[in-house]
Amino acid sequence: MRAERMSPFLALGLLLAGICSVHCLPENVMVKDQHRRVDDHTLASSNTDFAFSLYKKLALENPSKNVIFSPLSVSIALAFLSLGARGSTLTEILEGLKFNLTEIQEKEIHQGFQHLLQTLNKPSNQLQLNVGNAMFVQEDLELLDQFIEDARVLFSSGAFSTNFRNPEAAKSLINEYVKNKTQGKIEELFKFLSPRTELVLVNYIYFKAQWKTRFDPKHTQQAKFHVSENKTVEVPMMTLGLETPYFQDEELGCTLVELTYTSNDSALLILPDEGKMQDLEAKLNPETLTRWRKSLQPRRIHELYLPKFSIKSDYVLNNILSQMGIKKIFSDADLSGITGTSDLVVSQVVHSAALDVDEEGTEGAAATGISMERTFLRITVRFNRPFLIAIVLKDTQSIIFLGKVTNPSQA
Ligand SMILES: *[C@@H]1O[C@H](CO)[C@@H](O)[C@H](O)[C@H]1NC(C)=O
Ligand SMILES: *[C@@H]1O[C@H](CO)[C@@H](O)[C@H](O)[C@H]1NC(C)=O
Ligand SMILES: *[C@@H]1O[C@H](CO)[C@@H](O)[C@H](O)[C@H]1NC(C)=O
Ligand SMILES: *[C@@H]1O[C@H](CO)[C@@H](O)[C@H](O)[C@H]1NC(C)=O
Repeated sequence: MRAERMSPFLALGLLLAGICSVHCLPENVMVKDQHRRVDDHTLASSNTDFAFSLYKKLALENPSKNVIFSPLSVSIALAFLSLGARGSTLTEILEGLKFNLTEIQEKEIHQGFQHLLQTLNKPSNQLQLNVGNAMFVQEDLELLDQFIEDARVLFSSGAFSTNFRNPEAAKSLINEYVKNKTQGKIEELFKFLSPRTELVLVNYIYFKAQWKTRFDPKHTQQAKFHVSENKTVEVPMMTLGLETPYFQDEELGCTLVELTYTSNDSALLILPDEGKMQDLEAKLNPETLTRWRKSLQPRRIHELYLPKFSIKSDYVLNNILSQMGIKKIFSDADLSGITGTSDLVVSQVVHSAALDVDEEGTEGAAATGISMERTFLRITVRFNRPFLIAIVLKDTQSIIFLGKVTNPSQA
């Protein structure tokens, strides 16, 4: 089978796919509330669209590096921020998250996230999944009651009073909080925090699941992995024979294998034909994912070889989000829904993720942090009384015109 050829592959959305079994294709699920089902589906398809768009940007910026992130964590953090955004700042965030605002209202989006968080956090004995939000608020910063209430009800977020004027202590408070919530896997979400920080929003995700069919560690052996045409590395290669969903996509030139966890969530592994990674990446979109999900059929795979791996990434997302249309939050933000005045601006959107795949299963963790500062005082100068004007030529410093305007309405 082609699935045994070892070259770079996409373990697409291990975190994403894990959530898909609940949210992407609720076709054969009995849902009492028809309206709710529409919301879940719209939310999932927008989130998937956002996931692939962000993937493409990250892959482009980090060529030939491992990429790992949790699109869901970034989406939730930005949706949380949008609670405080107004006007075009709000529209940009929601459209950047791939919501079509002629089809879905802001309120429905927030309710969708609320429902998603509740569903994800339902206790299960087959899966450890914890998703949560928190905010860290400068001691003297007054938040609007409505914002505090929405954060609590919709995003289950509490607020921690923080002294950012001691930035090292504040950074360590936030990083320790995230480290604790991610079972030690995300150790340093913020590398830097300015003493001018006023507010930090945080989302974290922790995921741990066991394969339905585990790999036998006795069969794991060192084997070659072809990093590129001329570069080969030795990796611990796990192996197994099993019946599992499989699809050979002739059109896009790739082989797909879906590995299921005991919880029935799954990891979708995508192996492009040799030299086809970039072509495939370009074609990643929600329609492709839907087509794959419909085409995957249980097949006996006699030998599946999958490396055991641990990968980690840290990103600052400011530039990428700007490229994706979420710009105003960084410069000309209206975040007046947070404090009542529009003097807050986002200084950093940071994201860290880690993923371990071994014989037993998968452990993944991710966190997103959004820090905000006060904008510099807006400078306003009104020439609304008599003033002088001098026009100076740059090269010679000659004053070519000099005048006084006492009444601009006179000729
Ligand atoms: C948004 O939805 C409307 C109505 O369904 C549709 O006409 C429009 O093309 C959509 N916009 C985008 C950007 O997809
Ligand atoms: C996280 O914090 C809780 C409560 O303070 C503590 O009981 C737990 O051991 C901590 N977990 C880790 C992994 O540090
Ligand atoms: C790999 O090596 C061959 C032969 O030495 C060379 O022609 C080719 O350009 C190399 N490919 C890459 C991607 O470096
Ligand atoms: C997973 O799916 C199988 C087959 O549909 C079912 O028997 C089993 O109870 C499910 N397990 C969980 C944890 O939902």
